[in-house]
Amino acid sequence: MIEITGLKKSFNGHPVLNGIDLRVEKNQIVSIIGESGSGKSVFLKLVMGFLIPDEGKIIINGTDINLLREKELLELRKNIGYLFQESALFDFMTVYDNLAFSLRENTKFSELEIKKKVKDALYRVELHNIEEKLPEELSGGMKKRIGIARAIIMEPKIFLCDEPTAGLDPNKSLSIMQLISGIARSLKSASIIVSHDVSNVLRFSDTIALLYEGKLITKGTKEEICKTQQKEVRQFLMLDN
Ligand SMILES: Nc1ncnc2c1ncn2[C@@H]1O[C@H](COP(=O)(O)OP(=O)(O)OP(=O)(O)O)[C@@H](O)[C@H]1O
Ligand SMILES: [Mg+2]
Repeated sequence: MIEITGLKKSFNGHPVLNGIDLRVEKNQIVSIIGESGSGKSVFLKLVMGFLIPDEGKIIINGTDINLLREKELLELRKNIGYLFQESALFDFMTVYDNLAFSLRENTKFSELEIKKKVKDALYRVELHNIEEKLPEELSGGMKKRIGIARAIIMEPKIFLCDEPTAGLDPNKSLSIMQLISGIARSLKSASIIVSHDVSNVLRFSDTIALLYEGKLITKGTKEEICKTQQKEVRQFLMLDN
């Protein structure tokens, strides 16, 4: 479970996040939407502990992540699957080695067990027989799928996705979101997706929040969000068009 209270972050005196409160339960998908530059990636980087907040608390499964030593933080991150905005695969490694990487670093699994886990992860993202390919040989959609497979290979209890559909056509976007939500449900993870892909986010999330001027100005189910009278929300979702 993720509990965030009063989270603030500025860069060079410019506030990006200005008091964020958010709670994400096990088996819940919460999506944060917001325009480019609104601070969505910064938010996820704070949740990962890649950035340090100016104020506020991030509690993951009962632990305040900003009170952890580096080693403890690395340990906690083993329970977090993170899909990077740009997939961030290692270019010089095959798909197999990209997927095996965190298992080799973080577990004592034998190479045989690793092989099975890699195969299972590829099966979950509906890809087969591409273990020996390099990232440059893959399409954008396939890279996303490998990014997802890598994020979930440790079966994380927390699943964070940064713009999972960026750069994909509408059909591919839909299938990637279907995949992510299906995996999040099967892992029963507490999941946060940040995105500006409004239609898919509305369709696949339990709760949606709009990040606007450093704050989550609305939070609710698809039905609640679509009924809101808040001008900024209606504009961003293009509800009146
Ligand atoms: N390390 C950093 N140093 C200084 N400024 C930063 C840093 N990281 C992010 N910012 C600034 O914080 C703001 C929010 O950036 P962020 O990347 O979170 O936006 P975003 O909502 O993810 O945008 P996009 O939808 O384009 O991915 C931007 O103005 C950005 O320039
Ligand atoms: Mg971003």
